[in-house]
Order: sequence, then structure tokens, then C-alpha cells
Amino acid sequence: MNNRNLLYALALCCILLSLGAWVLAFFHYSAPVRQIPAAQVLPTLQPAPAADLKYAPPRPQNAPEDLREAVMLGYNIINDTAQYAPDHVGNELSCATCHLEGGTSKGSISLVGAAATYPRFSASHGTSIDLAQKVQDCFARNLNASPPAHDSPAMQGVLAYLQWISKDIPVYASLPWALPAKLDSTHKPDAAAGEKVYAEHCAACHGDAGDGSPPLWGKGAYTDGSTLHNIDTLAVYTHRFMPPEAATLTPEQALDVAAYVDAQPRPHFVPAQSPGSDKKPPQGK
Ligand code: HEC
Ligand code: HEC
Repeated sequence: MNNRNLLYALALCCILLSLGAWVLAFFHYSAPVRQIPAAQVLPTLQPAPAADLKYAPPRPQNAPEDLREAVMLGYNIINDTAQYAPDHVGNELSCATCHLEGGTSKGSISLVGAAATYPRFSASHGTSIDLAQKVQDCFARNLNASPPAHDSPAMQGVLAYLQWISKDIPVYASLPWALPAKLDSTHKPDAAAGEKVYAEHCAACHGDAGDGSPPLWGKGAYTDGSTLHNIDTLAVYTHRFMPPEAATLTPEQALDVAAYVDAQPRPHFVPAQSPGSDKKPPQGK
């Protein structure tokens, strides 16, 4: 083979190689990303039997010394968000409005064990989310505020606290005190009937116009991106916890009043683009 033929052969090799690379790149970029059904991904871990679970959250004051400052900050933020995280409240609520006693009370939505059950699939995100994302969701959707950054003292405090009160709960335990998705009733919610239930059982505290203490609708209330902005969830919550320490509504009354409250105006949730996110922000609830 003379020199010229060698050159031709080399040039041909180069052309073939770049063609190959282009074909590969073409298929790589155009191949559709296969969506894996969430049920196939989560959860593959076996939940611990409920009977083993004791409800005895440790006190924040008893956290180990090196954690105590962060744990106490998280505890204070949850109990009085406006005082301890004033930049992250956009309405008249605190985390403790829905999670009494720092989320350790069974008389409201308990946060005991929550830290042991993340990461978890989130229907509103369409992806698996971790505890920090869930906490950011609660700031944005329930307090109508811009959430604290992941590396901020506020967020680190809330995470430290949530982990501390879950320290005795096995990972991915199914929590018997978790709020069920819906009431066991086939009743069709009737907002007109709910208006009467509201006047009789709720308005004394929450106000005729929903702007009482705490507010249920209007600008001081949770947003339309909250998980409470859903008739089933609101009915379960109301049936279980409202009025406080005197929850006596029937499932039917709870569904009716939930339909009435849910139909009232409330702040619109505007999803923020999270830093580093390569896809569109989550929509809706
Ligand atoms: C208006 C009521 C409301 C407020 C205010 C609120 N939350 Fe929640 N939160 C809920 C409801 C309802 C749930 C249960 C449904 C769900 O997972 O979204 C929940 C769930 C959670 C969970 C997950 C619990 C679990 O077992 O998965 C965490 C963590 C949480 N909230 C933290 C917070 C923090 C921190 C704040 C304050 C920044 C806050 N919440 C404010 C209503 C509220
Ligand atoms: C005696 C006063 C009282 C009555 C009556 C009452 N609530 Fe509440 N409600 C509260 C208080 C106080 C809170 C804050 C959490 C707590 O203390 O349990 C609250 C919290 C709530 C919340 C979550 C926080 C928020 O502001 O969004 C909802 C939703 C709610 N109540 C719905 C109802 C409904 C529906 C009724 C009627 C069936 C009702 N409540 C009756 C006092 C009352």
C-alpha cells in the first residue's frame, strides 16, 4: 500500500467513525425515556408491623447536645412560624395550626415517624421526593410562602427536629396514626347541606366568612395547592379533629362541610422553579 492509499484508508475510517458516532448520538437523544410505573419503584421495603410501634416521641429538649440547637430551632419554627421564620410565612397560619405541639399531638396531623417514611413517591410531583422537598411543599402550599433553602439554618433545623421525633420509628413503618386518604363512606358530598353544618359547627371559631381564627378561606388561609384543598382529605381531617377535642360530626356531615369549605376562594399556589430542577415545576395539589 502506498502513502496515498494509506491516506484514503485513514480518511474513510474517520468518515465511518463520525457517521457511527452521529447515528449513536441520534438514537441516544431521540430514544423515548421509558416511564417506570411508580408502583414498580416504591416501596420495595417491607413496612414494620404496626403492633411494634409505640407513640412516645422524645422531647426536643432531650436531643443530644450537638443537635439540640438545631432541633430546638425546628421545634420553635413549627410551633410559631411567624416568630422564628418570619420570611417564610405568607398567611395567618403556623405549621402548628395543622400540626399541634410541634406535630407530636395525636389531636392533629402527627409528624411523628414522618421522617422515617421519606423518600416517597409524590403524586403532585410525579417523582419520588425527600423530606426536605415535603417540608418546602408545606411552606409553599400551606403557608403561602417562599420556602427556606435546603442549606438554610431554618430548613436544617426543621429536618433535625423531624428526624429527632422519628428516631424510634423503623424506616418505612406504616404509621397507624397517619391520616387516611378518605372516609369510609359512599355519601356524595353536598355543599348546600355543608353550609348549614358550617354555620352550626364551625362558624363560631372560623368566622361566618371563613376569616376567623384560624382562617379557613380568603387571603389568610392555606392555598389551592394544599393537600387540604381536596374534599376527601378535608373531610377526614374535619371528621377526626374538628371541633378540637369535640369531633362529633358524622362522616356525611364532614363530607358536606368539606365540600362547602373547599368551594370557597383561597390564595392561588404558584409553584416556584426549584434550583437545579431540569423539568417543569410541579402543578396543582
Ligand atoms: C393548613 C394545614 C397545614 C399547615 C399549615 C402545614 N401542614 Fe404539613 N401537612 C398538612 C396535611 C393535610 C398533611 C398530610 C397530607 C400530606 O402529606 O400532604 C401534611 C403533611 C406534612 C408532612 C408529611 C407527613 C407525612 O407523614 O408524610 C410534613 C413533614 C409536614 N406536613 C410538615 C409541615 C411543616 C414543616 C409545616 C410548616 C412549614 C406544615 N407542615 C404546615 C397540613 C398542613
Ligand atoms: C371551638 C373552635 C373551633 C370550632 C368550632 C372548629 N374549629 Fe377548626 N380549628 C380550630 C382551631 C383552634 C384550629 C387550630 C388547630 C387546633 O387547635 O386543633 C382549627 C383548625 C382547623 C383547620 C386547619 C387549619 C386551617 O385554618 O385551615 C381546618 C381545616 C378546620 N379547623 C376546619 C373546621 C371545620 C370544617 C369545622 C366545623 C366542622 C371546625 N373547624 C370547627 C378551632 C375550631
